[in-house]
Amino acid sequence: MSVPSFDGASARLHALVEKLQQSGAIYSAAWAEAFAGVPRHVFVPQWYGQETDDRGITVWRRNDAADRDVWQAAVYSDQTLVTALDPDTAERVGERAWTGIPTSSSTLPSLMAQMLEDLSVADGHRVLEVGTGTGYNAALLCARLGDRLVQSVDVSPALVEAARGRLASVGYRPHLAAGDGQGGLLGRAPFDRIMATCSVPRVPAAWIEQIRPGGVILTDVSMGIEGGLVRLTVDKERRATGHFTTTTGRFMPARSDAHAYRRPERAPYAPRAGSRPTTLTAVDIREHYPFRLLLAFHIPGAELVYHVDDETGAMSLQLQQHDGAWARAPITGERAAGPSAIVTYGGSTDLWRQAERAWRWWNDHGRPAQDRFGYAREADGRHYAWHLPDGLRWPL
Ligand SMILES: C[S@@+](CC[C@H](N)C(=O)[O-])C[C@H]1O[C@@H](n2cnc3c(N)ncnc32)[C@H](O)[C@@H]1O
Repeated sequence: MSVPSFDGASARLHALVEKLQQSGAIYSAAWAEAFAGVPRHVFVPQWYGQETDDRGITVWRRNDAADRDVWQAAVYSDQTLVTALDPDTAERVGERAWTGIPTSSSTLPSLMAQMLEDLSVADGHRVLEVGTGTGYNAALLCARLGDRLVQSVDVSPALVEAARGRLASVGYRPHLAAGDGQGGLLGRAPFDRIMATCSVPRVPAAWIEQIRPGGVILTDVSMGIEGGLVRLTVDKERRATGHFTTTTGRFMPARSDAHAYRRPERAPYAPRAGSRPTTLTAVDIREHYPFRLLLAFHIPGAELVYHVDDETGAMSLQLQQHDGAWARAPITGERAAGPSAIVTYGGSTDLWRQAERAWRWWNDHGRPAQDRFGYAREADGRHYAWHLPDGLRWPL
């Protein structure tokens, strides 16, 4: 396939591929060739840039061929670009500006490249992608494997139809379907590889049933406080085991239908119970991704959110549980970044105490990176993570 030569896209595309190779995101000749053959601008005819208006409200401004240079410069840079807003909640607030919740994006090309490399596909592999979005990643898979071997599913029928048209315009006709990809795509199974570009709370049983023994699943698993990319191999006994990958990336959560947004059920905040000094600061938690992952194993079901004090406007990092327990340490204001902080808490469990225990464990074990943590789904559906060298396990 030749890249359309208009708009200088060809030169921009080659510059992007070179950059991805130089950074190490693409390291195989096969993926370099695939990336060089797919014009990203065809798949991202418009994108929404995030702005904050003078009332402090998030506004999404549309960029497209009307300002060709800005649009294409972004499309051929290493950026995630929001490409769709939820039509039910998006409100037009200016000529090219909307409020609303992003429902699809074209993923950071370097992340896409690393994931495709991590997937270790071989000629002849049948692949299912969950989260078609713009169709760009599906096109890359088609360029690498041939479109007969590629299937992709998205929960939004409108996105699937738009992707189908773009793929056809560059000569690819993979099998596309609209639906909840957490159910796989039974009629097209078995697959050698399943790759998700949305996150799932657990590895769906359908993926295990629809993949060949020896097949690989690459997905973002979200666990409340944090989540990450896992690469799992499924064996004959239907056990999926592997570990978090060195590639760090997070994706928007899978929704069960095109209009459903998960709002976690949570009891009202418990009354304030006290405050005390702590050596685990909000900065420690914010700065160390592998530690947040460990926290997610240690405190299942908990969430990590930003909290703004109604009276002072001071911002804290807050751990919270579904039963209303909470604990927070300051991000802004006095003692936000020093070697110690004041933690304030409420509820039945001292969540910060649990976090302090995890912090001690992480430091005592030499601050392991995320790929030192295994992840498994047993044939009976139980999930757990473990520390690769010493085998300590956390049920999930
Ligand atoms: C980050 S975007 C995917 C980017 C895409 N791979 C590309 O190359 O443009 C995530 C996509 O996941 C889709 N999605 C969300 N929940 C889903 C589900 N349950 N099944 C399939 N797709 C889902 C969203 O509609 C969105 O298009």
